[in-house]
Amino acid sequence: MRVECEQEAGSGVSVAAASVWNNPAAIIQVENLSKQVASPEGPLVILDDIGFSIAKGESVAVVGASGSGKSTLLGLLAGLDTPTQGRVWLAGVDLNSLDEDGRALLRAQRVGFVFQSFQLLTGLTALENVMLPLELAGQSDARRQALDLLERVGLKARARHYPAQLSGGEQQRVALARAFAGNPDVLFADEPTGNLDQKTGHRIVELLFTLNREQGATLVLVTHDAELAAYCDRILELDDGRLRPPSVKQPGGA
Ligand SMILES: Nc1ncnc2c1ncn2[C@@H]1O[C@H](COP(=O)(O)OP(=O)(O)OP(=O)(O)O)[C@@H](O)[C@H]1O
Ligand SMILES: [Mg+2]
Repeated sequence: MRVECEQEAGSGVSVAAASVWNNPAAIIQVENLSKQVASPEGPLVILDDIGFSIAKGESVAVVGASGSGKSTLLGLLAGLDTPTQGRVWLAGVDLNSLDEDGRALLRAQRVGFVFQSFQLLTGLTALENVMLPLELAGQSDARRQALDLLERVGLKARARHYPAQLSGGEQQRVALARAFAGNPDVLFADEPTGNLDQKTGHRIVELLFTLNREQGATLVLVTHDAELAAYCDRILELDDGRLRPPSVKQPGGA
């Protein structure tokens, strides 16, 4: 059953032709999204029939207990992973209609992603890690832009250091600087303040929301940090792979 669905999703053209981007105001639209994996105990449902949309420029916090599916959802939204069922439209493109290279290209053009585990390239310095997406995008002043970004996360002095020479929080900030490179339309960040002290965390949150405010970037942040979640326009809560009904923010605190 699962394999059949994956084949349908991967078969591309006919599926894409049949699908309708029915919410032009949304930069992300998710329909009937499910993810199952095989496990020794049988099929494991990680995400179960998720649906929502996110408007351009919105900031959204994804919250929920450990293991509730937050990182899995973020990976599916960014096209890093493929669903068992359902669809994600990202910037108007049905991700099921793209192959891996197509999804990588769309990410390079539109998306910044901060992994929970940072995933810096260990053989490159902090500066080179941040320069990489800029160079891949053909930016002639990649070095200057990357240095500027490192300065904004407070790490200009560490530009020549390799990831192994940086603390966890410093690596996280390099990963953020890399995600900011190229002014993404959508920034996905998995626990962006998870390894930071309160002061550095505040600075990073400010940076995230500056990107949101000044460049209209949409933010999708997985977080256990109630303060960060409260900064966001909206909270999506996962409970054991299912989306909880939205809690409506009351205008004026009413
Ligand atoms: N490839 C996989 N194979 C088997 N199980 C997986 C796989 N990927 C994720 N899971 C399981 O799916 C569940 C959701 O994982 P996920 O990483 O999305 O959780 P999370 O909400 O991000 O948790 P945390 O807050 O701890 O980071 C977990 O129980 C995890 O063990
Ligand atoms: Mg996670």
